[in-house]
Order: sequence, then structure tokens, then C-alpha cells
Amino acid sequence: MDEEPAEPYRIKVIEPIRLLDREERKNRIKEAHYNVFNLKSEDVYIDLLTDSGTSAMSDTQWAAMMSGDEAYAGSGSFYRFTKAVQDVLGYRYLIPTHQGRAAENVLIGNLVKKGDIVPFNMPFDTTSNHIRVNGGQPVECALDVAYEPQQVHPFKGNVDIDKLEDLVKKVGVGRIPFVMVTITNNTGGGQPVSMENLREVRMMTSRYGIPLYLDAARCVENSYFVHRRENGYENKTLAEITLETFSYADGCTFSAKKDPMANIGGFIALNDEKTYHELLPRLVTYEGFTTYGGLAGRDLECLAQSLYEMTDERYVANRIRQVEYLGKLIESRGIKIVKPVGGHAVFVDVAAFLPHLPQSQFPADALAAELYAESGVRGVGLGALAFSRLDEETGEQVFPKLELLRLAIPRRVYTDRHMDAVADGLGRVYERRKEIRGLKIVYEPPLLRHFLARLERV
Ligand code: F0G
Repeated sequence: MDEEPAEPYRIKVIEPIRLLDREERKNRIKEAHYNVFNLKSEDVYIDLLTDSGTSAMSDTQWAAMMSGDEAYAGSGSFYRFTKAVQDVLGYRYLIPTHQGRAAENVLIGNLVKKGDIVPFNMPFDTTSNHIRVNGGQPVECALDVAYEPQQVHPFKGNVDIDKLEDLVKKVGVGRIPFVMVTITNNTGGGQPVSMENLREVRMMTSRYGIPLYLDAARCVENSYFVHRRENGYENKTLAEITLETFSYADGCTFSAKKDPMANIGGFIALNDEKTYHELLPRLVTYEGFTTYGGLAGRDLECLAQSLYEMTDERYVANRIRQVEYLGKLIESRGIKIVKPVGGHAVFVDVAAFLPHLPQSQFPADALAAELYAESGVRGVGLGALAFSRLDEETGEQVFPKLELLRLAIPRRVYTDRHMDAVADGLGRVYERRKEIRGLKIVYEPPLLRHFLARLERV
């Protein structure tokens, strides 16, 4: 087949956006207390806050919504969704939820108890919160290289098998309800996990009798990297690679707002009948009856279609190409980014961008505010504001190892011209980086301050 020089789709519906004047943008970010979560969408020109729930659905996804079965129990859409999960992921049982974190609530709320340890490559923040809320503790077992933004590694999301095994030996199997691998590793820069690594994790956890789950929101982007970078997978389809990926785990939690390109939705999928039945009462309590779990019939129907669509080779290749395109543009301006570029976002290395700001002044969020004021582009800081914690023993702030600005690209939404504008805006901020001041907190809630904090310039 000839390589296609442009997007493998055309645009049928558009939504106008506009760039506010510079003075207005400065006012808006000040009124938003320098927290981009407080900006109104209509004031944002190019929105790279997240790739979650923000993708453009296809005509077939929209068409599926019209044939949703809205029955409270036994909806036909649920059975079609179940069939898609069986075909695409290879799991027997489906537990639908309203989004990924709701799937985490059902799984973790059932399986994690006080004093438990859950090993990860790296957990996403809602996942760690669910574990902590249930009295457990998530532990990162990522490769050392995962914490070095500029070090290139083809599978920077891999689990460090030695760290994992040492942890299992240290705390004992009885305290580990399951191991979870995030594919791709969002917290570490959208980095993939190799098939070989997954097989090794499977072998090790099987030896100890510990269940293995995937946090699979971006599993197809992961499959694409396996296809491109791992020996033996060059000639396999993304559908084949995806099916093999899931075959190594007992089940998964899945935010359908990412790779499946739905605006809402999530689920747990698994093979073990006993665990499935154990999870259902919590599903009914927090989400809804077993055959809809917090979603409308139209969403279930749409998700069935989405699962088949997400492994489309031509779309995924073009998607990753665009993320890499933005990465190259940014790097060409001398700006340091997490390398290699991940699947869903370009992560700017803010420690290198603003070396004069200590982490106590939230450099990643200061840069996010500055980028908005400069160009109307909304990215998100993922650093000290999001991930610092008080050490329970010493009472001191523990800062995260990475201080990043994430520019997450919604799927099928923006053109390369938008990416040019993003890189230009960031480039202009880079030229005057020495003048950028840090931020201080004027209000923070006891939990999840990243979303709710109010800040002002130092
Ligand atoms: N797991 C990963 C790896 C995620 O990135 C997210 C969400 C979730 C779980 C939770 O899923 O949002 O459907 O409840 N990530 C979004 C982001 C919010 O912007 O990265 P959810």
C-alpha cells in the first residue's frame, strides 16, 4: 500500500475557536489564579490540557450512539460492548463504569486493604489516590532511566523486574493484592512498555501467585511502539499486538476516554469469574446496574464501535506522527523535552527550561500559565504542585523527581498548523525564560490541590 502523505480522514464537522488579545489572556490567567484548570474553554485557543475525552469521534461512532439500547437491565448495547471486549482484548467479563477512575474505585476498593502494597511501573494520580484511600500504598518500580528526561530508551515505561522482585520479597506476597502496569506510562511521559517486559512481569507474578492488571487507557499507542520498536512485531497488526498484550494480564482497568476516543466511559475487563462476581456489588453501589455501570445505552453502543476502531493502523500511525511532529518542532527551538516523544503528548522538561526556579515555586505550573498568556495554548503542569507529598515520618515536603509541562494532543482534533502555533508560542516563552517568576499557593484543599489550588506570582 502506498504511504499516505496526509491524514487518513477528512473533516465533516468543525467547532470555531478564537485567540483572545494578549491583554485579555493576561487577565484571564490572573483571574484563574494561575491555575489552568480554572480557565474557561472558550478563552483557550488550542487546548492541550488533556487527550482524555477530548477526541473527535468518527461518523460511525456517532451513528452507533443513535442505536443505543437504554434498557436499565439487559441492554443489547451491553452485550455488543462485551463482544467487542472479547474480540479486541480477549477478556470474558466486562464491568462498565462512567470513566477510568470509577473502574479503579470498583477494582481497588474491593481488592486493596489497609497495609497493602501495590507495585506499578508508575501509577496515574487517581489510581494512587484510590490505593491510599483504601489504606494501601502504591510503589513505583520503573526503570531508573524513566526519571531521566533526556535519556533515550525505546521502552522507558518498562517495569524494572529486579526492583519488583526485591519489593515482593521485602513486603511478602500476602500484602500484594495485585501488580499493575500502566500502558503507556502517562506519568512518566507516555512511554511504552515492551511485550518482552510484560511477559517477564507475567512470569514473575505467576511464580509468586500475584494477579497482574493493566491500566490500559493508551494500550493501542503502546501497541504501535511495540510494532515499530520491538523485534518480531514488525509484521503484526495492531489488533494482533493488542490482543497479545492483554493475554499476559488477568484483567485491566480502562479509561475509554483515551485510545477509544469516546467522550466518556471506562470499564474493567477480566477473565476470572469469581473476581467478576466479587466486584459487582461495589459496581451497583457506586456506578449502576451490572449491564450499564454509570453509562447511557448510547455510550455503551458507542464504546463497542470504538474498541474496533481504535486499532486502525492508518489512524494510529498518523496520530503518533503528529505527536512526534510537535516534539521535533519544540526541540528545534532548543527546548528540552522528555525523550523519546511519548504516545499522546510532548512533555517539556521544565527543570531544564526554568532552572532558576526551585520546585517549591511550582515551575511547571508557572510555565503553563506563561504559555497560555503568550499564545492562548493550554498545557498542564505535572510537577511539584501535582505530585509533592508530605512525608508521614519527617513531616517534610517530598518533591517529585520530574517537573514537566504536558502538551497532550486530542485525537483527530487539531491540524499540524495548530502544532506549529503551539511550538511558536512555547519558543517565544523560551526566549524570555529568565524573566519568568515562580508561583506560590494562596489556597489549597487537603487533597488533589493540583486541580483546585489558587496561586499567585512570587
Ligand atoms: N489511568 C491513566 C493512565 C490515565 O491517564 C487516566 C486519566 C486514568 C487512569 C483515569 O481515567 O480520567 O477516565 O477517570 N488521565 C487523564 C489525563 C485525566 O489527563 O491524563 P479517567
